[in-house]
Amino acid sequence: MLDPALALNAEVHLYPLQADLSPDLVALDLLLARIQKPVKALLATHYFGIVRDFCGLRQWCVDRHIVLIEDCSHVLFTENFRAPGSGIHGQFVVSSPYKFFACDDGGLLYAPDACLLENVATRSATFFEELRGIKHVLERGRSTGRLAGDLASIDLRLADISAGAVALGNHEVIERSAPSSLFSELAAARASLRCSQFVAEHSSLDDNIRCRRENYQRWVQAVATVPNCHALFPILPTDCAPYMFPLYIDHPDPHFYWLKHLGVPIWRWDEMADSACRISQDYRQHLLHLPCHQSLTGIEMDWMTAAVDKTLHRSVAGAR
Ligand SMILES: Cc1ncc(COP(=O)(O)O)c(C=O)c1O
Repeated sequence: MLDPALALNAEVHLYPLQADLSPDLVALDLLLARIQKPVKALLATHYFGIVRDFCGLRQWCVDRHIVLIEDCSHVLFTENFRAPGSGIHGQFVVSSPYKFFACDDGGLLYAPDACLLENVATRSATFFEELRGIKHVLERGRSTGRLAGDLASIDLRLADISAGAVALGNHEVIERSAPSSLFSELAAARASLRCSQFVAEHSSLDDNIRCRRENYQRWVQAVATVPNCHALFPILPTDCAPYMFPLYIDHPDPHFYWLKHLGVPIWRWDEMADSACRISQDYRQHLLHLPCHQSLTGIEMDWMTAAVDKTLHRSVAGAR
């Protein structure tokens, strides 16, 4: 999210979050007082699909003539559906429908006042980009999932992995004022693929939300009595379509390392911009994002929850 701002030569300031990942208004005031240039926009995120009440934040922005951009990247927010309470406070809203469907791409920029988007132009994808997108959609439809037999081998594999030394990652901070190599001016101006739009429009939202909620609840139950961790949001608000299941672990070394080597699909924010925020610093290593995607099978959920359960029960004392 920093790249587009850096591409415009904007100065980016990271503001502190609270433990529940909501903006800290007191800290925002302190930060604003230190910034020399006029602040034009503030980006606020509804993390993991849990929609926050940005009413107070909107007023804070209005009072200071700052444009509020609502980041709905973790929220089910498409052209035809908006998760309740999302996208109602921002002058602009950005979302990533592709995160909720089996398609390659699809970012959405929305403004309640359509005039604000009059000058936004996109170019269509090329024929070959469309073809590649269709191929990927078809490939995603094929199951490559876990088999029930994999469950039985977790103990053995874990014993093997934990007997070896833990290779600790290098902590390296790279300073840069230009966009990262992931940013492409050309891609930023390209409309999403037609097949991605088709998939988002024709998928059953009811099934999507129901399956995601069920998988999320399975995680909550599975980790309730597991030591060395806790669910960041154990109570899923009604109507919420969760993006992922955030799990705080007490000992990322070695538990994260062991989980990764077992093959559990986990995401972390360890490659994100480094900030002075105490919560961000803590969460970049300790907060795991675990999948609750609607396409996960019962066997896959059984395997992942068992792998997390067995790994986090394992003592960290003997880790080398
Ligand atoms: C909080 C948040 N905002 C924005 C983005 C960017 O979304 P996209 O993948 O559509 O570029 C991400 C990506 O995961 C994200 O986690």
